[in-house]
Amino acid sequence: MKTEILDIENAVDPAAERAAEILLAGGTVVIPTETVYGLAADARNPAAVRKIFAAKDRPPDNPLIVHIASMEMLGLCASNIPEEARRLAEAFWPGPLTIVLDKRPEIPDEVTAGLETVAVRFPAHPVARAVIERAGIPVAAPSANRSGRPSPTTARHCIDEMSGRVDAIVRSGDCAVGVESTVLSLAGPVPRLLRPGGITPEQLRGIIGHVELDRAVLGAADENEPVGSPGMKYTHYAPDAQITLLDCGREEFIRFVNRNAAPGTAALCFAGDVRDLDVKSIAYGTEGNSASQAHGLFDALRKLDECGAQTVFARMPQQDGIGLAVYNRLLRAAGYRIIKPESNEGERE
Ligand code: TXA
Ligand code: MG
Repeated sequence: MKTEILDIENAVDPAAERAAEILLAGGTVVIPTETVYGLAADARNPAAVRKIFAAKDRPPDNPLIVHIASMEMLGLCASNIPEEARRLAEAFWPGPLTIVLDKRPEIPDEVTAGLETVAVRFPAHPVARAVIERAGIPVAAPSANRSGRPSPTTARHCIDEMSGRVDAIVRSGDCAVGVESTVLSLAGPVPRLLRPGGITPEQLRGIIGHVELDRAVLGAADENEPVGSPGMKYTHYAPDAQITLLDCGREEFIRFVNRNAAPGTAALCFAGDVRDLDVKSIAYGTEGNSASQAHGLFDALRKLDECGAQTVFARMPQQDGIGLAVYNRLLRAAGYRIIKPESNEGERE
């Protein structure tokens, strides 16, 4: 398959028309969003949606998020929309919040993996909005990575990974947020946070009060037990290297890494740590600044592979605000391996 590259830097670019045309014809188009790049197709067209799963090698039981560009489009996707959803939409849409609601029959099983609910998001990125508005249809769009890989936050990531597998890739700037949207279910008895992201639990509680955290947010989901968000049970964001999170401060981190320096060992650290480390070091943001860590994490994971790292020691992010999303992704990338260097002095995982 020949992949068209469409350069679209802003909402008025005429190439947005071409992207919309491909979507309406049942094709697949990679589009930028403010969180990560997404792989879009017509959400009402089962054959088009199946192309997304094929391009990503995505397991068919992992449902997709439907992206809209107006509140009218919400009504085409979801039914029984509760008052809380309207209040959250008012506060955070367009933006990095996905809301799980009862689905309408027009949304095919291919999108929802057979669930009776549908995940909906109104993205803020001007290019995503322009393409969806011109197409005039809700579009299903997972992150535009091959299944299991880190989500793409630059056009280069998408071109490297998806060329030849999709009809077109929109080339635009880097994604501002850098981690995927917050997924909140309003389809059950209590609002439940299924995946932390760009909108924090504190922000959600500020609008609707009580929000429960799904167990998959901070722990490993049991393969055999049902989880709120099917995507959370898969290994994710996994680079080739084996990552271990070190639960400690800066000084212990540096001491531990330098003591365990060996060929193939690398550090995933903060910008101010690089000069003190004796191994290849990739920074994912700056210490104490969770937004910068979210912005840099997925690119840093890809760079670890590019430098051929085999064993990676990673610095622990803070877990408040958007840091909860950073921690959630890094925990999965590390396969839940965390050690406390104080109690394992000099020992290798
Ligand atoms: O920021 C984002 O959300 C990006 C951009 C492209 O918008 N998209 C994204 O999609 O991250 P994806 O497919 O990589 O992640 C979708 C997540 C998965 O964990 C999936 O299981 C969950 O949303 N999900 C989708 N539909 C659901 C549903 N009906 N009920 C529960 N979870 C659902
Ligand atoms: Mg994804």
